[in-house]
Amino acid sequence: MQQRHILLAVTGGIAAYKVPELVRWLQRAGHRVRCVMTPAATEFVSPLVLQSLTGEDVRSQLLDAGEEGQIGHIALADWADQVVVAPATANTLAKLAHGMADDLVTAVALATRAPLLVAPAMNVNMWEHPATQDNIESLRSRGVRFVGPEAGELACGWEGVGRMSEPSEIGAAVDLSLAGESLSGEVVLVTAGGTRERVDAVRYLGNRSSGKMGFAIAEQAARRGARVVLVSGPTSLATPAGVRRLDVESALEMRDAVLAEWPDVTIAIKAAAVADFRPARASDLKIRKEDLADGEAPTLELVRNPDILAELCSDRGARIVVGFAAESHDVLESARRKLERKGCDLLVANDVRSTTTGFDSDMNRVSFIWPGGENEELPTMTKSEVAEQLFDRIEKLCEGRR
Ligand code: PMT
Repeated sequence: MQQRHILLAVTGGIAAYKVPELVRWLQRAGHRVRCVMTPAATEFVSPLVLQSLTGEDVRSQLLDAGEEGQIGHIALADWADQVVVAPATANTLAKLAHGMADDLVTAVALATRAPLLVAPAMNVNMWEHPATQDNIESLRSRGVRFVGPEAGELACGWEGVGRMSEPSEIGAAVDLSLAGESLSGEVVLVTAGGTRERVDAVRYLGNRSSGKMGFAIAEQAARRGARVVLVSGPTSLATPAGVRRLDVESALEMRDAVLAEWPDVTIAIKAAAVADFRPARASDLKIRKEDLADGEAPTLELVRNPDILAELCSDRGARIVVGFAAESHDVLESARRKLERKGCDLLVANDVRSTTTGFDSDMNRVSFIWPGGENEELPTMTKSEVAEQLFDRIEKLCEGRR
């Protein structure tokens, strides 16, 4: 592998004890590593250790008279092919999100044109605080990549999300980031939101899907350089940057839109909650109770909608097709059966009984179900993170296809 320059920016958290191992991991992957630190980070890991491992000076002061003679922080920013902030504290995330540059780490991060990868580590309450989550969303929207944090036992004694990812995972994320526009050349079709099946002039059969999951997937695909078309049911969400959006209402309209795009598509991800049934007849006028006999209620006859996912799978050629499964019970078993019935390359199962994940939430808890029976259960994470995890898997499928 070509040697790349990794600037490892260390901030002040207990997870800094993993940094020497991360340096080793990056060096074994063939990279040249330099470290910068915040003054607080030097309390957790000795600059001398990092200097010895990297064979390079380790700076921790922005106002270093010797170095800044040659505008040292700009030289470091320009040297880097990739900047990695690990561990990233809540404080540093806030500064990065707001473009502050009052220490060497944030000054370099602001000055560099290299991609930024961040490995947060903090107490679970700090992680879940809306201020931190807003900062993360803001950084994400500017193309900053995240790896972790993971759930587990935290150094502060709490249990939950906040552990820095392991060096091997951060290293893998560095490789992915350096690969750059990893989906360039791919045409990704995403479906999102719920369909509405018309009953009469004012009523419809619908479901609770907000479109958030599908929109996060479309956004992630665009960030990775794919050409993205998003076929969406009714939603108030804004179209992600770089995404072409087609609005539809019913399952039949969704099918038409998807099939019209199909010839160009190389990867399809069906996150939409498509109605399985629609009223056999829709009235052009409002059905009024005054027009019915006293106490009478109309009977709604339903017919089945086409199964768009199954149809795509039966004509998929070399395409990668990913389905979702919204399950309320026997999640893994039903999802496995669905995968076999529909014939997709990967099925993302979510338990939709929860009120904090799944439908109309910013969070999701999913399992990836693979043909052959293997499944990976992921912890609860934001829908943007689910999208990242999903594309890390899809990119492996793409490699296998080449
Ligand atoms: O939109 P959000 O509020 O963010 O919520 C996200 C979500 C819960 C809707 C999403 O994560 C999800 O699970 N989407 C799939 C919902 C669904 O319809 O599941 P299903 O098990 O009924 O269908 C299985 C698969 O077949 C899905 O990929 C679905 O798009 C597809 N399908 C279903 C019926 C049909 N007639 N045609 C289809 O293509």
